[in-house]
Order: sequence, then C-alpha cells, then structure tokens
Amino acid sequence: MVVYLDHAATTPMLPEAISAYADALGVVGNPASVHSQGQNAKRMLEEARERVAASVGCDPIEVIFTASGTEAINLAVKGLFWARAPRRRVLVAEGEHHATLDSAEWLHQHDGALLEWIPLDAVGRIDLDALEAAIARNPLDVALVTVIAANNEVGTIQPVADIAALAAGHGIPVHVDAVSAYGHLPLDFAAWSRVGVSAMSVSAHKIGGPVGIGALILGRSAVVVPLLHGGGQQRQVRSGTQDVAAAVSFAVAASAFGAGLADENTRLAALRDTVIAGVTRLVPSAIVNGDTSPGGRLPGNAHFSFPGCEGDSLLFLLDVAGISVSTGSACQAGVPEPSHVLRAMGRTEVESRGALRITLGHTTTEADVAALLAALPAAHAQAARAGMADRVPGS
Ligand SMILES: Cc1ncc(COP(=O)(O)O)c(C=O)c1O
Repeated sequence: MVVYLDHAATTPMLPEAISAYADALGVVGNPASVHSQGQNAKRMLEEARERVAASVGCDPIEVIFTASGTEAINLAVKGLFWARAPRRRVLVAEGEHHATLDSAEWLHQHDGALLEWIPLDAVGRIDLDALEAAIARNPLDVALVTVIAANNEVGTIQPVADIAALAAGHGIPVHVDAVSAYGHLPLDFAAWSRVGVSAMSVSAHKIGGPVGIGALILGRSAVVVPLLHGGGQQRQVRSGTQDVAAAVSFAVAASAFGAGLADENTRLAALRDTVIAGVTRLVPSAIVNGDTSPGGRLPGNAHFSFPGCEGDSLLFLLDVAGISVSTGSACQAGVPEPSHVLRAMGRTEVESRGALRITLGHTTTEADVAALLAALPAAHAQAARAGMADRVPGS
C-alpha cells in the first residue's frame, strides 16, 4: 500500500473532474470561432469560468485562465510592475513560493526593480509593522506588494485583509498567491478587492483538477501588462487559444471542493492534529513549525523539524516504507537546500535541514495517518544515525 501525504505538491484528480475532462476533450471547436461548434466550445468555456469565479467569489470577467499557478503569479508580479512604471519598489514577503521570488528577482536583474523583503515572525506570519514602515518610506515609488495567502511549506495563514489595507491607503496594488490556500480556505475575492487586493493566483491541480491550468483573478479595474501577445483573448491580458477541456475539468473540481469545504476542513484538521500529536509523542525532539493556534494554519498541513536528521533522509526512508511526504523546499541542481521559509522564520540551519512536510487531502484516511505514525520511529532512528555519522569525523 502506498500512502500519499503530499497533497500540497499536487492532489489526486477527482473522478468527476477526470470524466468531465475526458468528455470535453472530445469536443471540437475553438471558442474564438464564429461557427456553431466554436460557439458551443465558448459556451462550455464561459460556464466553466462562471463556476471557477463562484469558487473564489469574483465576477466571471475577472477570471483569466493561465497554464499554471506559476504563470498566473508571473503575470501578476511582472504585469503589475510594468503597468506601474516608472515606480520601482516591489515589496515581497520573505518565505514566498519560488514563482513569486524568482519573478521578483528577474525584475530586479533585468528591469531595475528594487526588491524589499518584508520579514516573517517565528511562526511565518508577515510583520505588518515592517510592511507599514516599508510602504511609508516612499509610497509613491511602490509598484506592488505581493504576499502568499497561506504558506505552502509551513501552512501559516497570512492576514491578507490587513496587508491589503496598508497598501490600499496609498493606492498600491496587492497580489495574493492563493495557490496553496485554494480549496482549503474560503476565498472571497470580492471582499478582498474591497480592501485593496488587485489580483489573486490559483491553480487547478491543488484542488483535484488537472495540472496545466490555473487562473489569475484580476480585478476589473486592475491593469497588468501582458506576458503573452497574440490573439488578444481574455481581456487582451492572456493571448492564446483557451483550453476548454481543462477549464471544464477545473470548474468541476472547483464546484466539488467548494460544496464540501467546511466539513472537509473539519475532518482534515482533526487528522492533522492526530499527526501532530502522534509525531511529537513518538519523537519528542521534533519541532512543529508554523502557527499552531486554532485556525492559524492550513487544515491539512503538518510541518516538523527533526534536529539531527536530514529531511531528505527521512523522506527517502519513509518512501521505502510506502509513505510519500515532502521536505517542502526545493532542490537546487539535485542538492537539497535548507528551506528559505524556515530560515526566514529564524530556524537554525540544522532545524531547517531536518524539515518534513506532511500534507493531507481529500483521499487521506485515518489508516493513512496510522501508517505514517507506524513507519516514523524506525525511519527517524535510521535518519538520526545517518545524521550522527555525518557529524562524527572519520566515520
Ligand atoms: C503557494 C504556491 N504558489 C505557486 C505554486 C505554483 O503553482 P503551479 O504548480 O500551478 O505552477 C505552488 C505550487 O506548489 C504553490 O504552492
């Protein structure tokens, strides 16, 4: 039996999203074509847009389909920056996903952006005073503020409305990366846009839809310079023939997730608390990362540091035992990097290296959690021995 506990990386497609996808793939017609087959494709596409819009509380016109969450974030960060020229300051929270970090870095290296990193506290929450002070230093030169709604590694939920309110007072657009929050927190773009959020990124494969489609939710009055040029589809913001089948499947997943959100979150939070209680009982030296207050973290996220172990060793040993988990952080050229999120939260290098992320989702059962807890002690003991051997000279 293989136990999948890496839902933050991607979650299995819902059966109804797979069958809707397969059915829609058989439909011929470019939604931009005038003939009846094209118009039928357009109707399917626009119905899908309406359902995705309903899942995030926005108008259908505000849904710009993209090929991924990464593309949506690139469009928001670069597009807002370009549209706000000659302003140069980009305020980025530390610990963001690489789609944001690397878009901002690219603007710095190629386009003169001045990046300012807003620190996180020990649980991974953005320092609002630091953000306010950074804005106040020269509000007229701030092109945008970008922040993740809930951290994809440690699960900490950000006070998005408070962040937006600070920027809105100066007319500064705010982009929210909601990819990891989508399907786990109720998202209400209309409410956020009233307090100053201009754009929000989501992705279908995090909610049981297909890989290869995401969306930028772009407020009606927000202006971005496009990344892609061509046929002028989707408000001229994202040219390219639209993927009707992927949009239909995305919409089915969005509706299904939205319908059961509250109950599912209660179920997942209970399973997550079992994971946290079990791991800390079995390995008393384990540190729980992220916000542990009620409602402070994503319901399906449990994140630990195992000091003295390499997260990669634990991941490998659990994999051999049939449990799929993650360290949460990226590998650079095959070399595991200590998590930039944990470092931003003030964790030591040793704590950051021993990170393990366990993320639960719609297929997770009590038996999965029991299997993880059964496999952990032996995996931890072996990873700790390997970690010890690494530190003893000559061994
Ligand atoms: C917070 C966050 N932002 C962005 C992305 C990128 O989304 P996609 O995989 O659709 O490109 C991810 C994916 O893991 C994520 O967790």
